Amino acid sequence: MKLDKVSIHKKYLCGVGVGPGDPKLLTLAAVETIKSADLVLAPTSAQDEPGRAEEIVRKAIGTIPVRRILFDMAKGESGIELRKSTALVAAKEIVTLLQPGERAAFLTIGDPNVFSTFNLLARSVASIDPTVEISSIPGIMAFQDLVSRSGMTLLDEEESLRLLVGLQVDDKIEEALKDSSSAVVIYKGGRNLPAIVELAKRAGRLADGWIGVKIGLEESEVTSLQNIGTGPVGYLSTIIFPPRRL
Ligand SMILES: C[S@@+](CC[C@H](N)C(=O)[O-])C[C@H]1O[C@@H](n2cnc3c(N)ncnc32)[C@H](O)[C@@H]1O
Repeated sequence: MKLDKVSIHKKYLCGVGVGPGDPKLLTLAAVETIKSADLVLAPTSAQDEPGRAEEIVRKAIGTIPVRRILFDMAKGESGIELRKSTALVAAKEIVTLLQPGERAAFLTIGDPNVFSTFNLLARSVASIDPTVEISSIPGIMAFQDLVSRSGMTLLDEEESLRLLVGLQVDDKIEEALKDSSSAVVIYKGGRNLPAIVELAKRAGRLADGWIGVKIGLEESEVTSLQNIGTGPVGYLSTIIFPPRRL
């Protein structure tokens, strides 16, 4: 949403990445877009409580009026269907509330184009009113903050990056860990941490692994994977293995 290019005839929706947790990682573009928006929206899991993205913005720029969208984060097909119908209701509201020339900003943790409810919302808005101009402001992702806090070099020369989801521990994770020239990032794997640790051990990569739980938020823990203990951890956790270098 380039501020200098706003038409008085159009409505705008911008997904704004607010980073993983530390308010200092909000970009200037994000702050500018949030402050100039006519309507600020944010996902939450309880209507009377701010969601994580709203909390980050509050810490960075103070309390601002935010329209909360209650997203049920249940797993599996039923959870996805619930989120789709929530997004459709929210999209109808946005299209009705926004007047021509007005801009809505939807806050989302990390980046708005990676595993974000912004995707659902943007698609729903486009299906209701294709003339709404949709854009996004990139956000720093949890794995980038974790890399920085761990002090590792994530990629060098011809190495690759694989970003996987750890909701199920399947062949994909095992295969990725076997490829020593790839860095492996695992999102959403907290519940399956013990199984992931086991695979890392077998691939000889446990000693290089790092985990960040609630990175940048209160009660955050960032540590070598070997130090985290043996049980599962929460959903808001990211695991990283740099490539195996000689
Ligand atoms: C629904 S995805 C959101 C991803 C987000 N859009 C991004 O770009 O980072 C949720 C997953 O992101 C990761 N994540 C997001 N914020 C995090 C944080 N503060 N600490 C650790 N992991 C985080 C976790 O792997 C979590 O399971």
